[in-house]
Amino acid sequence: MWWLKEVWVIDPSQNLSAPRDVLIKGGQVLEMSSSLTEEEVLTLAQGEQVESINGKGKFVFPGLIDVHTHLREPGQEEKEDILSGSRAAVRGGFTTILAMANTKPVIDSRALVEFVRLQGERAGYAHVLPIGTVTKGMQGGELAEMMDMKAGGAAAFSDDGKNIQNAEVMRLSLEYAKLTGLPIISHCEDKDLAGEGQMRRGMASARMGLKGIPASAESVIVARDLLLAEETGGKLHLAHISTTESVDLIRRAKERGVDVSAEVNPHHLIFCDEELGITDTALKVNPPLGSPRDRESLIEGLRDGTLDMIATDHAPHTQSEKARPFAEAPFGIASLETALSAVWQYLVLPGQLSLDRVIEAWSLAPAKRFGLHGGSLKPGTPADIVLFDPEFSEMIDSAQLVSKARNTPFLGKTLQGFPIMVWVEGRLVQRDRSVL
Ligand code: DOR
Ligand code: ZN
Repeated sequence: MWWLKEVWVIDPSQNLSAPRDVLIKGGQVLEMSSSLTEEEVLTLAQGEQVESINGKGKFVFPGLIDVHTHLREPGQEEKEDILSGSRAAVRGGFTTILAMANTKPVIDSRALVEFVRLQGERAGYAHVLPIGTVTKGMQGGELAEMMDMKAGGAAAFSDDGKNIQNAEVMRLSLEYAKLTGLPIISHCEDKDLAGEGQMRRGMASARMGLKGIPASAESVIVARDLLLAEETGGKLHLAHISTTESVDLIRRAKERGVDVSAEVNPHHLIFCDEELGITDTALKVNPPLGSPRDRESLIEGLRDGTLDMIATDHAPHTQSEKARPFAEAPFGIASLETALSAVWQYLVLPGQLSLDRVIEAWSLAPAKRFGLHGGSLKPGTPADIVLFDPEFSEMIDSAQLVSKARNTPFLGKTLQGFPIMVWVEGRLVQRDRSVL
């Protein structure tokens, strides 16, 4: 049994942000109290050995749930696999991750969904929930067998990495979502507007001499998908929202009662296109980094709930791929191990976002939207828990990362504020930054 003493507990499911003692036993949160005596704890332990942790100056919150991770298995295990990705997850404070379907082959059948789920269980770190494709082969045409994939354990459906260009196929998928009850996750990007663009179109792309992707490449599809969700009543989730216009469109759609949720990635909350240099392929991401105004809109959207949740879009690539010239390097940032610390350091510490909102947006909000357990520390719930030390600082060092990927903009930089203990169903899986 674990006894976390005098720790600051953030539990969005109970609107709680206060010092407490927390007991973890038998895979569950056993008790939360404003003070426990040694005697009471020993009685509750019923003979089990008790390890007590001094929680003063530290935070405890529900394990984070990331609805957008690329784990690359099957097919691209040189970038990441389910074991390395789920170890990276718990090192970064995530106890549940949803695995995107754009693997090789893509996850478009029940057998493949079951493969991802079982590989996740075998790995035994974070809970790994598969996302199935919306269309067969991720070709944007015929719908995949979503009911069948749901029976195999799919948590959502997405052609992420690609947009569904055909509006009728998108409309049908939202009709289908009413049968499965699961969200359709949309990667909003108009292919023709995006063209061969490498970064956001604007002053910075002109300066760097790179082809640009206009902000409208995202927003026109956001508008389309919101209208289709409104018409069909299907459950829509918008991935990696990155523009002011998209935030405005979502805000207005929510006022009309459209069944939509949206996520924002840490890198879009932290970085802007103006900071990009021609060698910064680690920051080459899709959708691309936007303007300072976009960044402000995203933070405001997250604060007021227009953007429901944070998600990493962990997109591992090999070092040789990212060492190519900017225009030839693949899109994506590997972020499971740094995302929470980056958000703490760049957004919470400067007062842009409260830690309470960050935890709600990264645990309870995804749990509710995707119908998952988690996001709560109520006694009796499975103990997916993070102990976070706001003072702990660490240089992001290639030798320490447990992900196979090194494509992070924080490599060689020091971040402050890290998860120092992580439990999955009461089992300690990370201690003092080492995955057990
Ligand atoms: O940057 C990205 N990388 N954006 C995506 O939509 C896909 C992802 C990937 O799979 O690498
Ligand atoms: Zn995407």
